[in-house]
Amino acid sequence: MVIMTSSMTFQPVLEHIAAEVERMPGRGRVADYIPALAARDPRRFGMAVAELDGTVYGVGDWREPFSTQSLTKVFTLALVLAREGDELWEYVGREPSGNPFNSLVQLEYENGIPRNPFINAGALVVTDRLQTRTGDAAGELLTFLRSESGNARLDFDKDIADSEAAHGDRNAALAHFMAAYGNIGNPIPVLLDQYFRQCSLTASCADLALATTFLARHGLRADGSRLLTQSQAKQVNAVMLTCGTYDAAGDFAYRVGLPGKSGVGGGIIAVVPGRCTLCVWSPGLDERGNSVAGVAALDRFTTLTGVSVF
Ligand code: DON
Repeated sequence: MVIMTSSMTFQPVLEHIAAEVERMPGRGRVADYIPALAARDPRRFGMAVAELDGTVYGVGDWREPFSTQSLTKVFTLALVLAREGDELWEYVGREPSGNPFNSLVQLEYENGIPRNPFINAGALVVTDRLQTRTGDAAGELLTFLRSESGNARLDFDKDIADSEAAHGDRNAALAHFMAAYGNIGNPIPVLLDQYFRQCSLTASCADLALATTFLARHGLRADGSRLLTQSQAKQVNAVMLTCGTYDAAGDFAYRVGLPGKSGVGGGIIAVVPGRCTLCVWSPGLDERGNSVAGVAALDRFTTLTGVSVF
């Protein structure tokens, strides 16, 4: 067992975990509902830890860009919350859904108000509100991520955005359904274009661990300016803990014990408030859409280090 003290670097524990992951037999299935994602090798694995001062530790494919997908929902939520505050919660809830991320069923009996900002319906509402406030939701997200990661080369992947659009009937259905309840302000094609570009953003574990540090810094950005109040940063972390891994959020909290958010590209970001952030990537998913090796690696990280919110 690796024992961590607060003065140690995270590098040895990351190397220990990577060696364990290398021996893992099953890695899950790569998402194939978007053909552009299906080509990735499920045995790829990278993991990064970023400290609050911007020091980053990494192992494996931690500098390899991958499709961020739903990880972006954390950043769009923060960007909207910073602008709207509690008004946002009139349009989207903050309860776990207990349903798959792309489910339609709750929307009808809950009058077009999605359960939370991390299922697709809720993320569409958030992107719609960011679009209304800024006129370019995806551009706002990109600017923020470039600035927080320090990587000016971050960008969208047009092939993935096009592939999302070509296979986007479910997201279109969600958007139209919510529009029927008056919960979408922009024309649906504009909203879907913004959302698909948002999902196509490509970044590495190092980029994403760094870009997430504002949530470990209680709302302060890398340059020391404030994006969120301390209370809002706590709220985003709380929603990540309870809703960030969809209908597996209970199991993720049980195993990992950190606010986390997954994406079907195989990435997971996680926050240790006041201490550090993590990003892990491995494209093989379990049946709920969470990276198999990613969850296992975060489970080992919090177990080996004792670092947790609990
Ligand atoms: O909306 C979609 O279908 C995707 N572009 C994003 C899905 C996603 O990452 C959900 N996550 N696990």
